Amino acid sequence: MAMRPKARQMAGQAASGGANGPIAVLVVHGPNLNLLGEREPEIYGRTHLADINKELKQLGRELEMKVETFQSNSEGGIVERIQKARGKCDVLIINPGAYTHTSIAIRDAIQAVNIPVIEVHLSNVYRREAFRHHSTISDIAHGRIMGFGAESYSLALRAARTMAQESRRRSA
Ligand code: DQA
Repeated sequence: MAMRPKARQMAGQAASGGANGPIAVLVVHGPNLNLLGEREPEIYGRTHLADINKELKQLGRELEMKVETFQSNSEGGIVERIQKARGKCDVLIINPGAYTHTSIAIRDAIQAVNIPVIEVHLSNVYRREAFRHHSTISDIAHGRIMGFGAESYSLALRAARTMAQESRRRSA
């Protein structure tokens, strides 16, 4: 039998520590983002991925959130990590890199796990080539943050906290 949205939400909460447990966020970085800091720094900045992840974990501690990070260059790796998060996290923050513009598999995985999503990009894709203007997940994302370099991620983490708090309040 299909679970009603509220029941589904509660199942997720139970697995992620319950309504009173820390808000759990998974941050997924797509292909080539392991090269941040060295790759086209005039577009993506000079901050390395390890530093972005460190800062997110630090901010998570300050905001009393549980933050996990993951990077993969493969579409299948990203799909598998999203599937593993089912029932275990409140919000998914994802920068799918170039898969943003092509991947139906990542879109399907997000819909399958029913975790609210924030789409993140370092660059403002609308100031770039036309092929970057399309995203396969923008219409299923709660919101999109782009154009602020590494700061796009910390803005997303703060937004994730507000989203999860509101969702927990609604289902209390
Ligand atoms: C990106 C934008 C994508 O078009 C590109 O393929 C990336 C990074 C960004 O964060 O600005 O790899 O997602």
